[in-house]
Amino acid sequence: MFQTILFPTDFSETAGRAYEKIKQLRTECSAQKIILMNVIDEREVDSLANLEGFYSIQLDNLRKEVSDELTRKAEQEFEPYKEELKQLGYQVEIRIVEGIPHEEIIKIANKEDAGLIVMGSHGKGIIQELLIGSTSEKVIRRSKCPVLIVK
Ligand SMILES: Nc1ncnc2c1ncn2[C@@H]1O[C@H](COP(=O)(O)OP(=O)(O)O)[C@@H](O)[C@H]1O
Ligand SMILES: [Mg+2]
Repeated sequence: MFQTILFPTDFSETAGRAYEKIKQLRTECSAQKIILMNVIDEREVDSLANLEGFYSIQLDNLRKEVSDELTRKAEQEFEPYKEELKQLGYQVEIRIVEGIPHEEIIKIANKEDAGLIVMGSHGKGIIQELLIGSTSEKVIRRSKCPVLIVK
């Protein structure tokens, strides 16, 4: 039916449940490749750098340090996923990019011709009462392919 599944994650508990679903899908669909993706939210990098570097004149350096640190963390978080998914027979690619999450997710989905996006209903945001998180909502609105939202 489709070749590629895109799994964008912010490493939240709900995104973890979406990951479990992807593992189950192995026997139910013909997908060959999983793209694991984390977007370093540029707004978060800005606010972290500003917070630390309030009196600093080298805000750009600090910004790069924060961004590099978040990238390293994401790489580490992806390691066990990568191994597990390879064991299941999936081909695995990892994308860690900086930007606005929903924009980068849609960009990669289009560029890689993803057949399905699997993501959590919520993430690390603090407003859990909403029916659905803001990233998920915007991805559903703008995606050309089906989106599987896992609660
Ligand atoms: N920075 C991100 N990078 C990749 N995927 C993300 C990111 N943020 C959210 N997601 C995906 O979107 C899902 C829903 O998160 P989101 O809509 O941001 O909810 P919330 O508003 O609760 O943070 C997450 O479970 C995850 O799959
Ligand atoms: Mg969020």
